[in-house]
Amino acid sequence: MTVEAVINVDLDGPRISRHVYGHFAEHLGRCVYGGFYVGEDSGIPNEGGIRLDVVAALRELGIPNLRWPGGCFADEYHWRDGIGPRAARPTMVNTHWGGVEENNHFGTHEFMALCELLGAEPYISGNVGSGTVREMSEWVEYLTRDGDSPMARLRRANGRDEPWRVRFWGLGNEAWGCGGAMSAEQYAYEARRYGTYCRDHGGNRLYKIAAGANGDDYAWTETLMKQVGHLGCRRVTSTAFHALSVHYYTITGPSWDEKGSATDFDTEEYYRTMVSAARVEELLAGHAAVMDCYDPGRNVGLVLDEWGTWFDVEPGTDPGFLHQQNTLRDALVAGVHFDVFHRFADRLVMANIAQTVNVLQAMILTDPETQSLVLTPTYHVFHMNRGHQDATSLRVDLRRPPPSRPVGDATLTTVSLSASRKDGRLLISLSNLDADAPADVEIDLRGGTVRDAAALILTSAALQDHNTPASPSVVAPRPYDGVSLTGGRLRVHLPPHSFVTVSGAL
Ligand code: AHR
Repeated sequence: MTVEAVINVDLDGPRISRHVYGHFAEHLGRCVYGGFYVGEDSGIPNEGGIRLDVVAALRELGIPNLRWPGGCFADEYHWRDGIGPRAARPTMVNTHWGGVEENNHFGTHEFMALCELLGAEPYISGNVGSGTVREMSEWVEYLTRDGDSPMARLRRANGRDEPWRVRFWGLGNEAWGCGGAMSAEQYAYEARRYGTYCRDHGGNRLYKIAAGANGDDYAWTETLMKQVGHLGCRRVTSTAFHALSVHYYTITGPSWDEKGSATDFDTEEYYRTMVSAARVEELLAGHAAVMDCYDPGRNVGLVLDEWGTWFDVEPGTDPGFLHQQNTLRDALVAGVHFDVFHRFADRLVMANIAQTVNVLQAMILTDPETQSLVLTPTYHVFHMNRGHQDATSLRVDLRRPPPSRPVGDATLTTVSLSASRKDGRLLISLSNLDADAPADVEIDLRGGTVRDAAALILTSAALQDHNTPASPSVVAPRPYDGVSLTGGRLRVHLPPHSFVTVSGAL
């Protein structure tokens, strides 16, 4: 059966924020230390200790923002321990992630230098769980205050004259769990208190993000929305925070102790992963519906600041380091998420994959033995989808339901697609999630003439295929000729388990 769709290329949908292609780096395993940061004395080419090969690879993605220092770590992190001469910085125990000693060598100045090298906006998660309002307020002042003030003087004493520009500010993380084990009501009170004292200094305008729900906890979202709006009211009445977050991970196995292997899985397990990934649509719809009741004007942003696959760690690695391989399956999970993000462009202002280097669904895996770097299949989806960043979303209307298959009690739609327009170019992303059967898609492109259509494909012989230092390009994008365009009709043949992008001039 051919999937038939219609795209009106001249009917503008909401803009897709580039920040939905955002990233996340926590002090966890080898994400920061060994991943982003190797120290100035390392033999690996670096600037101020920051790995330049990692920076170069991420710049290719147009990385829009980087969330730091956690995650759970953020609510135990005390920023003053991470400034000043490195040798004099106090150490701490990273209780969440392996119980290792944290030497605080990567702190505020190193993070801001990393963001500058990446050309990415910083997104800092402050400590609500074990910190104080004063501590968070002073961190904002330290980073962003121009002129003379105690914190601006301290920053200058540590070698940085000009304030930085920091927009995105997280008021804690997972307050329902590792961030303080609070009830929604308790946290809503804390979010208002902390949010109040995180000030705008000079021209720096903070965009404050409250720590949101776990998965489908819509009651949490409702409690937070009651802080900023009234039922049915278009006007947001409080600016203690401007957005709220939600975390949702793609989990395959039956429990946290049995999440399944990242590379050793069968077809049935694969389909279960895809059902779990596709559920992100239901969750965003649920949270957006609750938000619409209190903020129909859509002033408050929804931020999915942790998403991605979570499998069992690679055999022989520290269970607290969350190090997993990344296969074609992960790439298809990313493709499905982005289609959903594009459809929710009117509410979803940011999303951050967990995590960028060496942890969970990473873009980059660094090899401690060879010091080399591998780009994962997920990296390639981010790269192929770059053109959607800050683009105008285009609605995709399906003439009849796309193919689907039963998976346990669920039904998985096996063809997913989304489209956008930017700078006179059309970009369509398509995924065929069927493990064995190809799919054909015919798109009626209306409202404009598309020229010079060209396609890229990401697929591989097996769903389990992945890249390693010895074979870094097993799963990599290749030019694709399974596409034809005649008289405004775009026909795309999708091989089994494939991700395809088609772009053309308008
Ligand atoms: O990304 C790993 C962890 O997952 C984060 O620290 C936490 O916020 C979430 O539970």
